[in-house]
Amino acid sequence: MGIKKTEDGDSSGGKPVGEDGKVDYRTDQKFADHMKDKSEASSEFAKKKTLLEQRQYLPIFAVRQQLLNIIRDNSIVIVVGETGSGKTTQLTQYLHEDGYTSYGMVGCTQPRRVAAMSVAKRVSEELGSNLGEEVGYAIRFEDCTSEKTVIKYMTDGILLRESLRESDLDHYSAVIMDEAHERSLNTDVLFGLLREVVSRRSDLKLIVTSATMDSDKFAAFFGNVPIFHIPGRTFPVDILFSKTPQEDYVEAAVKQALQIHLSGMGGDILIFMPGQEDIEVTSDQIVERLEDLESAPPLTVLPIYSQLPSDLQAKIFQKAPDGVRKCIVATNIAETSLTVDGIMFVVDAGYCKLKVFNPRIGMDALQVYPISQANANQRAGRAGRTGPGQCYRLYTQSAFKNEMLTTTIPEIQRTNLANVVLLLKSLGVQDLLLFHFMDPPPEDNMLNSMYQLWILGALDNTGSLTPTGRLMVEFPLDPALSKMLIVSCDMGCSADILIIVSMLSVPAIFYRPKVDFTLHTGHDQVREKFSVPESDHLTYLNVYLQWKNNNYSSIWCNEHFIHTKAMRKVREVRSQLKDIMVQQRMNLVSCGSDWDIIRKCICAAYFHQAAKLKGIGEYVNVRTGMPCHLHPTSSLFGMGYTPDYITYHELVMTTKVTDPASTQLRYDLDCSEMMFYTLTHQKELSYIYIYIYQPSSSATVFYCVVTCVV
Ligand SMILES: Nc1ncnc2c1ncn2[C@@H]1O[C@H](COP(=O)(O)OP(=O)(O)OP(=O)(O)O)[C@@H](O)[C@H]1O
Ligand SMILES: [Mg+2]
Repeated sequence: MGIKKTEDGDSSGGKPVGEDGKVDYRTDQKFADHMKDKSEASSEFAKKKTLLEQRQYLPIFAVRQQLLNIIRDNSIVIVVGETGSGKTTQLTQYLHEDGYTSYGMVGCTQPRRVAAMSVAKRVSEELGSNLGEEVGYAIRFEDCTSEKTVIKYMTDGILLRESLRESDLDHYSAVIMDEAHERSLNTDVLFGLLREVVSRRSDLKLIVTSATMDSDKFAAFFGNVPIFHIPGRTFPVDILFSKTPQEDYVEAAVKQALQIHLSGMGGDILIFMPGQEDIEVTSDQIVERLEDLESAPPLTVLPIYSQLPSDLQAKIFQKAPDGVRKCIVATNIAETSLTVDGIMFVVDAGYCKLKVFNPRIGMDALQVYPISQANANQRAGRAGRTGPGQCYRLYTQSAFKNEMLTTTIPEIQRTNLANVVLLLKSLGVQDLLLFHFMDPPPEDNMLNSMYQLWILGALDNTGSLTPTGRLMVEFPLDPALSKMLIVSCDMGCSADILIIVSMLSVPAIFYRPKVDFTLHTGHDQVREKFSVPESDHLTYLNVYLQWKNNNYSSIWCNEHFIHTKAMRKVREVRSQLKDIMVQQRMNLVSCGSDWDIIRKCICAAYFHQAAKLKGIGEYVNVRTGMPCHLHPTSSLFGMGYTPDYITYHELVMTTKVTDPASTQLRYDLDCSEMMFYTLTHQKELSYIYIYIYQPSSSATVFYCVVTCVV
């Protein structure tokens, strides 16, 4: 009984085996596990001052009492302060010290996961407790809180889901909506919901923090509530603009980073790039060029982006060995809330990737855009957190003033709203067009999202939630993925689909070794061992089943170029989703070796993302006519022939052609040999996974990773 320990001793991931012989994977693989060690100070500021002295040095400390008074007198307060003034780390503690936690938790939302986790860690240290005790965090598929928790950091998506179960948020005495100027989709929906909650609960305090000039708009939205300004900033940051526009921001960033590094000035470097591909190229270039220089001082280059496994993300917070400078290359995930002790230099390329709903494709596409002035100021702010800093902007001052928007367009106005619609419907909001949004989404986007939910069977002809829709809300997944899980129960393959869905919920399962060509060959042969030629989804299933047969061994993962930590996360996600299925009385059955059923099931949920072969290697979406190509890393790519119909899962657009060998994009595909039906027989249709590539800014090529139907 139970899972045997393997020779590498990690079949249980170090977790205790329960009495029933089963390992509880739900709590495995937490970010907190990678950040167990106490943070080590890097900057003079952090080294020389005690934590209490550091807290008292912050601008917010000077106005602590005034702030608490205004919160006491008002249900809703907008707090505005410069970056680094202490909003995120101090407000929660002040409320705790002032007694608010005696009758509920103080919750603080963050738009990004890594911010929620790292800030919780810092605050737990300032309070002198272990992370997960008094101070905890919760993000999707990871709850690091306990009964003792009184200060809870979380992503805004978590609070939104909590409001489903407890519409008045009774567990909370105060909610801080941090980084409200980011205007994430979930934040905007929470604005509307929390406004109502506060009017029902006079004992709940709502604090909205912002670093920008949006404060008047926020105050007006909540009913002319007071705005509190925190005066002053922690440390000055020198802003240096580029004199001429840069043609190649990667090249410019590499040069700038090396110049700083070789100048002899002390302090770590943080470079902002739009996405993973640019980060990889920048990191490689810096390392290569340093190798060419004789007697150059050592430099640790650390990438961070959302698809990176959490143990590698946690590395940016660890202190580099003495005398070695850190150079972090990040997307805008490091832009807000984070403090990486020791960063003195910021290099800002001026671009970011934004999710934008493309009505032609009928779904969100990630595209590169210039950042806004608000983003630029946040980025610069990262350099002045624990000492005076410098920010090198790789764009001209005139571009900053004349070409950049003041603030980014709120996510709610540019993305797919299917999840939001589902959530609001289940909260009983009948007419979504009348819901109180700060900036209402375009009506077309809303109607398109409702249409998607209707074809998935979540809404009926009158726009009300169906029983399937109600069940879909229970899962913290995209509507089509929840639908796939629900359909799989009727089709007798729920255990298999559960694995596929879990695999899809975790970034970067495979990695490809770089540089060593002998390894490359080995890699391809090894990959062929579990590749299912007609489907990336089935390839995923196969990988998981083989890993399981090998006692969840990490040695097996290494031999097969698979991230062990990502696989453990998959196992944990699977456990959590399984709990929900059991709770909802959904039966778990496997279809055994008859994998055609699985392909049918995938089609039943993703039929709206189906494409038809058009020319050599080119597909067009059957509904929208959008062209796309199979991604070179897809199992289908090497199949020898191109199937007539495919279904896809995801769409990616980039500005650079990247060597497929060096990217670890997820390629999930499914190909099915079933009949391809038209949209009127939607239930039987199938789908694909698509990646769109833009080889240069002038041309757009779509690549899709697919599931073949036919
Ligand atoms: N991990 C850390 N190590 C060292 N100092 C830290 C750390 N976290 C926070 N600090 C200190 O606390 C200060 C305030 O951080 P906090 O995150 O509360 O600021 P903020 O006002 O929320 O800024 P932002 O608007 O950028 O989110 C930082 O400027 C820094 O001096
Ligand atoms: Mg903050």
